[in-house]
Amino acid sequence: MKEISLVDLENRFQKKVDSEIRIEPNDWMPEEYRRTLIRQISQHAHSEVVGMLPEGNWITRAPNLRRKAVLLAKVQDEAGHGLYLYSAVETLGADREQTIDDLHSGKAKYSSIFNYPTPTWADMGAIGWLVDGAAIMNQVPLCRCSYGPYARAMVRVCKEESFHQRQGFEIMTVLAQGTPEQKAMAQDALDRFWWPALMMFGPNDDESKHSKQSMKWKIKRFSNDDLRQQFVDVTVPQAKLIGLTIPDPDLKWNEKTGHYEFGEINWDEFWQVVEGNGPCNFDRIKARKDAKEKGMWVRKAASAHAAKRAARKTA
Ligand code: 3HC
Repeated sequence: MKEISLVDLENRFQKKVDSEIRIEPNDWMPEEYRRTLIRQISQHAHSEVVGMLPEGNWITRAPNLRRKAVLLAKVQDEAGHGLYLYSAVETLGADREQTIDDLHSGKAKYSSIFNYPTPTWADMGAIGWLVDGAAIMNQVPLCRCSYGPYARAMVRVCKEESFHQRQGFEIMTVLAQGTPEQKAMAQDALDRFWWPALMMFGPNDDESKHSKQSMKWKIKRFSNDDLRQQFVDVTVPQAKLIGLTIPDPDLKWNEKTGHYEFGEINWDEFWQVVEGNGPCNFDRIKARKDAKEKGMWVRKAASAHAAKRAARKTA
Protein backbone atom coordinates (compact mmCIF):
# COMPACT_ATOMS: atom_id res chain seq x y z
CA MET A 1 0.00 0.00 0.00
CA LYS A 2 1.37 3.49 -0.96
CA GLU A 3 2.89 5.37 2.02
CA ILE A 4 0.87 8.55 2.73
CA SER A 5 3.23 11.50 3.07
CA LEU A 6 3.16 13.73 6.16
CA VAL A 7 2.06 16.63 3.95
CA ASP A 8 -0.94 14.63 2.72
CA LEU A 9 -1.84 13.65 6.28
CA GLU A 10 -1.65 17.30 7.38
CA ASN A 11 -3.76 18.42 4.40
CA ARG A 12 -6.37 15.74 5.15
CA PHE A 13 -6.40 16.81 8.81
CA GLN A 14 -6.88 20.50 7.94
CA LYS A 15 -9.69 19.58 5.52
CA LYS A 16 -11.49 17.74 8.33
CA VAL A 17 -11.10 20.77 10.63
CA ASP A 18 -12.26 23.14 7.87
CA SER A 19 -15.35 21.00 7.28
CA GLU A 20 -16.19 21.12 11.01
CA ILE A 21 -15.54 17.37 11.50
CA ARG A 22 -14.56 16.81 15.14
CA ILE A 23 -11.10 15.38 15.81
CA GLU A 24 -11.30 12.42 18.21
CA PRO A 25 -8.53 10.87 20.36
CA ASN A 26 -7.77 7.98 17.97
CA ASP A 27 -7.71 10.18 14.85
CA TRP A 28 -4.42 11.15 13.25
CA MET A 29 -3.38 14.67 14.31
CA PRO A 30 -0.27 16.83 13.86
CA GLU A 31 2.07 16.54 16.87
CA GLU A 32 1.89 20.34 17.30
CA TYR A 33 -1.94 20.17 17.47
CA ARG A 34 -1.68 17.53 20.22
CA ARG A 35 0.98 19.53 22.07
CA THR A 36 -0.95 22.82 22.03
CA LEU A 37 -4.11 21.07 23.22
CA ILE A 38 -2.20 19.41 26.08
CA ARG A 39 -0.77 22.83 26.94
CA GLN A 40 -4.09 24.69 26.83
CA ILE A 41 -6.37 22.03 28.39
CA SER A 42 -3.95 21.21 31.24
CA GLN A 43 -3.53 24.91 32.04
CA HIS A 44 -7.28 25.31 31.89
CA ALA A 45 -7.61 22.42 34.39
CA HIS A 46 -4.96 23.99 36.65
CA SER A 47 -6.91 27.27 36.54
CA GLU A 48 -10.09 25.54 37.69
CA VAL A 49 -8.35 23.84 40.62
CA VAL A 50 -6.25 26.83 41.71
CA GLY A 51 -9.38 28.98 41.29
CA MET A 52 -10.99 27.02 44.15
CA LEU A 53 -8.47 28.44 46.64
CA PRO A 54 -9.50 32.12 46.89
CA GLU A 55 -13.18 31.14 47.09
CA GLY A 56 -12.63 28.13 49.37
CA ASN A 57 -11.20 30.54 51.93
CA TRP A 58 -14.59 32.22 52.26
CA ILE A 59 -16.81 29.13 52.71
CA THR A 60 -16.45 29.20 56.50
CA ARG A 61 -16.84 33.00 56.56
CA ALA A 62 -19.86 33.42 54.28
CA PRO A 63 -22.37 35.91 55.77
CA ASN A 64 -25.23 33.39 56.02
CA LEU A 65 -26.19 29.77 55.38
CA ARG A 66 -27.59 30.48 51.89
CA ARG A 67 -24.40 32.20 50.76
CA LYS A 68 -22.33 29.38 52.27
CA ALA A 69 -24.35 26.71 50.45
CA VAL A 70 -24.13 28.54 47.10
CA LEU A 71 -20.38 29.16 47.45
CA LEU A 72 -19.82 25.52 48.47
CA ALA A 73 -21.71 24.37 45.35
CA LYS A 74 -19.67 26.69 43.15
CA VAL A 75 -16.31 25.54 44.53
CA GLN A 76 -17.37 21.91 44.12
CA ASP A 77 -18.32 22.68 40.49
CA GLU A 78 -14.84 24.09 39.87
CA ALA A 79 -13.28 20.88 41.20
CA GLY A 80 -15.48 18.94 38.75
CA HIS A 81 -14.40 21.21 35.88
CA GLY A 82 -10.79 20.48 36.77
CA LEU A 83 -11.45 16.73 36.72
CA TYR A 84 -13.24 16.88 33.33
CA LEU A 85 -10.33 18.79 31.89
CA TYR A 86 -7.61 16.56 33.37
CA SER A 87 -9.54 13.62 31.87
CA ALA A 88 -9.73 15.44 28.51
CA VAL A 89 -5.98 16.04 28.55
CA GLU A 90 -5.36 12.33 29.26
CA THR A 91 -7.17 11.45 25.99
CA LEU A 92 -4.22 13.15 24.25
CA GLY A 93 -1.76 10.77 25.89
CA ALA A 94 -0.68 13.18 28.64
CA ASP A 95 0.02 11.81 32.11
CA ARG A 96 -2.18 13.47 34.75
CA GLU A 97 0.44 13.28 37.53
CA GLN A 98 3.03 14.82 35.21
CA THR A 99 0.74 17.72 34.28
CA ILE A 100 0.05 18.37 37.98
CA ASP A 101 3.79 18.20 38.75
CA ASP A 102 4.35 20.71 35.91
CA LEU A 103 2.00 23.09 37.73
CA HIS A 104 3.86 22.61 41.02
CA SER A 105 7.27 23.11 39.41
CA GLY A 106 6.12 26.33 37.67
CA LYS A 107 6.55 24.76 34.22
CA ALA A 108 2.79 24.99 33.52
CA LYS A 109 0.67 28.10 33.87
CA TYR A 110 -2.75 28.77 35.31
CA SER A 111 -4.94 31.84 34.91
CA SER A 112 -3.32 35.02 36.25
CA ILE A 113 -6.60 36.13 37.83
CA PHE A 114 -6.26 33.69 40.73
CA ASN A 115 -3.10 35.38 41.98
CA TYR A 116 -4.96 38.32 43.47
CA PRO A 117 -6.03 38.44 47.14
CA THR A 118 -9.68 38.28 48.21
CA PRO A 119 -9.78 40.31 51.46
CA THR A 120 -13.55 40.97 51.58
CA TRP A 121 -16.81 39.08 50.98
CA ALA A 122 -17.51 41.36 48.01
CA ASP A 123 -14.59 39.65 46.25
CA MET A 124 -16.74 36.50 46.08
CA GLY A 125 -19.27 38.58 44.16
CA ALA A 126 -16.63 40.16 41.93
CA ILE A 127 -15.09 36.76 41.13
CA GLY A 128 -18.45 35.19 40.24
CA TRP A 129 -19.60 38.21 38.23
CA LEU A 130 -16.34 39.16 36.48
CA VAL A 131 -14.10 36.08 36.49
CA ASP A 132 -16.79 33.53 35.73
CA GLY A 133 -18.38 36.07 33.40
CA ALA A 134 -15.07 36.33 31.49
CA ALA A 135 -14.68 32.56 31.62
CA ILE A 136 -18.09 32.12 29.96
CA MET A 137 -17.06 34.50 27.13
CA ASN A 138 -14.00 32.41 26.50
CA GLN A 139 -15.48 28.96 27.16
CA VAL A 140 -18.72 29.12 25.12
CA PRO A 141 -16.74 29.22 21.84
CA LEU A 142 -14.65 26.30 23.17
CA CYS A 143 -17.85 24.20 23.03
CA ARG A 144 -17.19 24.31 19.25
CA CYS A 145 -13.51 23.48 19.54
CA SER A 146 -12.27 21.07 16.85
CA TYR A 147 -11.09 18.57 19.51
CA GLY A 148 -14.10 16.45 20.57
CA PRO A 149 -13.34 15.67 24.23
CA TYR A 150 -12.52 19.34 25.02
CA ALA A 151 -15.63 20.64 23.26
CA ARG A 152 -17.88 18.14 25.03
CA ALA A 153 -16.34 18.91 28.46
CA MET A 154 -17.05 22.59 27.83
CA VAL A 155 -20.80 22.07 27.27
CA ARG A 156 -21.32 20.95 30.90
CA VAL A 157 -18.81 23.48 32.24
CA CYS A 158 -20.58 26.40 30.55
CA LYS A 159 -23.95 25.47 32.03
CA GLU A 160 -22.44 25.62 35.52
CA GLU A 161 -20.48 28.82 34.78
CA SER A 162 -23.77 30.62 34.07
CA PHE A 163 -24.95 29.79 37.62
CA HIS A 164 -21.54 31.00 38.94
CA GLN A 165 -21.85 34.30 37.12
CA ARG A 166 -25.45 34.87 38.26
CA GLN A 167 -24.72 34.20 41.93
CA GLY A 168 -21.74 36.56 41.80
CA PHE A 169 -23.74 39.33 40.17
CA GLU A 170 -26.50 38.83 42.78
CA ILE A 171 -23.96 39.25 45.62
CA MET A 172 -22.74 42.51 44.01
CA THR A 173 -26.33 43.71 43.43
CA VAL A 174 -27.33 43.15 47.08
CA LEU A 175 -24.18 44.88 48.35
CA ALA A 176 -24.49 47.79 45.90
CA GLN A 177 -28.07 48.36 47.07
CA GLY A 178 -27.18 47.87 50.74
CA THR A 179 -25.65 50.22 53.31
CA PRO A 180 -23.04 52.79 52.18
CA GLU A 181 -20.34 50.54 53.69
CA GLN A 182 -21.60 47.55 51.69
CA LYS A 183 -21.72 49.59 48.46
CA ALA A 184 -18.18 50.82 49.13
CA MET A 185 -17.04 47.21 49.65
CA ALA A 186 -18.58 46.19 46.30
CA GLN A 187 -16.97 49.17 44.54
CA ASP A 188 -13.59 48.34 46.10
CA ALA A 189 -13.83 44.73 44.84
CA LEU A 190 -14.73 45.98 41.34
CA ASP A 191 -11.78 48.39 41.45
CA ARG A 192 -9.38 45.54 42.31
CA PHE A 193 -10.74 42.88 39.96
CA TRP A 194 -11.73 44.81 36.83
CA TRP A 195 -8.34 45.05 35.13
CA PRO A 196 -7.12 41.53 36.15
CA ALA A 197 -10.40 40.21 34.66
CA LEU A 198 -9.55 41.86 31.30
CA MET A 199 -6.11 40.24 31.49
CA MET A 200 -7.75 36.79 31.65
CA PHE A 201 -8.29 36.91 27.87
CA GLY A 202 -4.54 36.88 27.28
CA PRO A 203 -2.19 39.29 25.53
CA ASN A 204 -3.30 41.54 22.68
CA ASP A 205 -3.71 39.64 19.40
CA ASP A 206 -0.42 40.95 17.98
CA GLU A 207 1.38 39.65 21.09
CA SER A 208 -0.40 36.28 21.21
CA LYS A 209 2.03 33.58 20.12
CA HIS A 210 -0.60 30.82 19.77
CA SER A 211 -3.72 32.54 18.45
CA LYS A 212 -3.05 32.41 14.72
CA GLN A 213 -2.41 28.65 14.64
CA SER A 214 -5.10 27.90 17.25
CA MET A 215 -7.65 29.71 15.11
CA LYS A 216 -6.54 27.84 11.96
CA TRP A 217 -7.05 24.58 13.86
CA LYS A 218 -10.39 25.90 15.26
CA ILE A 219 -9.25 25.42 18.83
CA LYS A 220 -9.90 29.13 19.22
CA ARG A 221 -12.94 30.55 17.43
CA PHE A 222 -12.34 34.19 18.36
CA SER A 223 -9.20 36.16 19.10
CA ASN A 224 -8.21 37.31 22.61
CA ASP A 225 -9.08 40.93 21.81
CA ASP A 226 -12.47 40.06 20.29
CA LEU A 227 -13.52 38.12 23.39
CA ARG A 228 -12.18 40.86 25.68
CA GLN A 229 -14.22 43.44 23.76
CA GLN A 230 -17.38 41.27 24.01
CA PHE A 231 -16.83 40.98 27.78
CA VAL A 232 -16.45 44.77 28.21
CA ASP A 233 -19.53 45.49 26.07
CA VAL A 234 -21.68 43.10 28.15
CA THR A 235 -20.30 43.94 31.61
CA VAL A 236 -20.22 47.75 31.60
CA PRO A 237 -24.06 48.05 31.39
CA GLN A 238 -24.34 45.51 34.26
CA ALA A 239 -22.14 47.69 36.47
CA LYS A 240 -24.23 50.75 35.57
CA LEU A 241 -27.44 48.83 36.38
CA ILE A 242 -26.33 48.31 40.00
CA GLY A 243 -24.78 51.74 40.40
CA LEU A 244 -21.11 50.74 40.41
CA THR A 245 -18.38 52.57 38.47
CA ILE A 246 -15.92 50.79 36.17
CA PRO A 247 -12.41 51.94 37.26
CA ASP A 248 -11.35 53.16 33.80
CA PRO A 249 -11.35 56.94 33.06
CA ASP A 250 -10.88 56.17 29.35
CA LEU A 251 -14.04 54.05 29.12
CA LYS A 252 -16.50 55.49 26.63
CA TRP A 253 -19.22 54.27 24.29
CA ASN A 254 -18.43 54.64 20.62
CA GLU A 255 -21.72 55.13 18.75
CA LYS A 256 -20.04 54.43 15.41
CA THR A 257 -18.47 51.06 16.25
CA GLY A 258 -21.17 50.02 18.74
CA HIS A 259 -18.48 49.08 21.27
CA TYR A 260 -16.97 50.54 24.41
CA GLU A 261 -13.50 51.98 24.07
CA PHE A 262 -11.37 51.33 27.13
CA GLY A 263 -7.97 52.20 28.54
CA GLU A 264 -4.65 50.37 28.07
CA ILE A 265 -4.09 47.23 30.15
CA ASN A 266 -0.99 47.22 32.36
CA TRP A 267 0.88 44.50 30.45
CA ASP A 268 3.93 44.75 32.74
CA GLU A 269 1.66 43.76 35.63
CA PHE A 270 0.15 40.95 33.50
CA TRP A 271 3.52 39.39 32.58
CA GLN A 272 4.84 39.85 36.14
CA VAL A 273 1.86 37.87 37.46
CA VAL A 274 2.07 35.25 34.67
CA GLU A 275 5.76 34.80 35.43
CA GLY A 276 5.04 34.03 39.08
CA ASN A 277 5.52 37.44 40.74
CA GLY A 278 1.89 38.24 41.52
CA PRO A 279 0.56 38.96 45.05
CA CYS A 280 -0.54 35.36 45.71
CA ASN A 281 1.41 33.12 43.31
CA PHE A 282 3.60 31.63 46.04
CA ASP A 283 0.64 30.90 48.36
CA ARG A 284 -1.43 29.33 45.59
CA ILE A 285 1.28 26.89 44.47
CA LYS A 286 2.24 26.13 48.10
CA ALA A 287 -1.40 25.26 48.83
CA ARG A 288 -1.48 22.91 45.83
CA LYS A 289 1.79 21.23 46.80
CA ASP A 290 0.63 20.84 50.44
CA ALA A 291 -2.66 19.32 49.22
CA LYS A 292 -0.74 16.74 47.19
CA GLU A 293 1.57 15.88 50.09
CA LYS A 294 -1.19 15.70 52.71
CA GLY A 295 -3.38 13.69 50.33
CA MET A 296 -0.65 11.19 49.40
CA TRP A 297 -1.92 8.60 51.95
CA VAL A 298 -5.34 8.63 50.22
CA ARG A 299 -3.72 7.99 46.83
CA LYS A 300 -1.56 5.21 48.26
CA ALA A 301 -4.57 3.57 49.96
CA ALA A 302 -6.66 3.85 46.77
CA SER A 303 -3.92 2.32 44.59
CA ALA A 304 -3.29 -0.49 47.14
CA HIS A 305 -7.03 -1.21 47.18
CA ALA A 306 -7.19 -1.21 43.37
CA ALA A 307 -4.14 -3.50 43.15
CA LYS A 308 -5.70 -5.94 45.64
CA ARG A 309 -8.98 -6.02 43.72
CA ALA A 310 -7.13 -6.57 40.43
CA ALA A 311 -5.10 -9.40 42.02
CA ARG A 312 -8.32 -11.03 43.33
CA LYS A 313 -9.83 -10.84 39.84
CA THR A 314 -6.86 -12.58 38.18
CA ALA A 315 -6.50 -15.16 41.01
N1 3HC B 1 -2.94 33.80 32.72
C1 3HC B 1 -1.83 33.05 32.58
N2 3HC B 1 -1.22 32.81 31.38
C2 3HC B 1 -1.78 33.36 30.29
C3 3HC B 1 -2.96 34.14 30.35
C4 3HC B 1 -3.53 34.35 31.63
N3 3HC B 1 -4.62 35.10 31.80
N4 3HC B 1 -3.27 34.53 29.09
C5 3HC B 1 -2.32 34.02 28.28
N5 3HC B 1 -1.44 33.32 29.00
C6 3HC B 1 -0.23 32.65 28.50
C7 3HC B 1 -0.58 31.51 27.55
O1 3HC B 1 -0.80 30.31 28.28
C8 3HC B 1 0.70 31.46 26.71
O2 3HC B 1 1.74 30.85 27.48
P1 3HC B 1 2.20 29.32 27.19
O3 3HC B 1 2.66 29.27 25.76
O4 3HC B 1 3.31 29.07 28.20
O5 3HC B 1 0.98 28.47 27.45
C9 3HC B 1 1.09 32.93 26.59
O6 3HC B 1 0.49 33.59 27.70
C10 3HC B 1 0.67 33.57 25.28
O7 3HC B 1 -0.74 33.67 25.26
P2 3HC B 1 -1.59 33.21 23.97
O8 3HC B 1 -2.74 34.14 23.82
O9 3HC B 1 -0.68 33.04 22.80
O10 3HC B 1 -2.04 31.78 24.49
P3 3HC B 1 -3.40 31.00 24.14
O11 3HC B 1 -3.67 31.01 22.68
O12 3HC B 1 -3.32 29.72 24.86
O13 3HC B 1 -4.55 31.94 24.78
C11 3HC B 1 -6.05 31.67 26.68
C12 3HC B 1 -4.64 32.09 26.21
C13 3HC B 1 -7.06 32.67 26.09
C14 3HC B 1 -6.09 31.70 28.21
C15 3HC B 1 -6.31 30.26 26.14
O14 3HC B 1 -5.28 29.42 26.60
C16 3HC B 1 -7.64 29.68 26.58
O15 3HC B 1 -8.68 30.04 26.05
N6 3HC B 1 -7.60 28.74 27.55
C17 3HC B 1 -8.82 28.02 27.93
C18 3HC B 1 -9.65 28.81 28.92
C19 3HC B 1 -8.89 29.09 30.20
O16 3HC B 1 -7.90 28.51 30.50
N7 3HC B 1 -9.38 30.05 30.95
C20 3HC B 1 -8.69 30.42 32.18
C21 3HC B 1 -9.65 30.71 33.23
S1 3HC B 1 -10.53 29.28 33.75
C22 3HC B 1 -11.56 29.95 34.85
O17 3HC B 1 -11.66 31.12 34.94
C23 3HC B 1 -12.33 29.04 35.72
C24 3HC B 1 -13.66 29.59 36.05
O18 3HC B 1 -14.43 28.55 36.57
C25 3HC B 1 -13.59 30.69 37.04
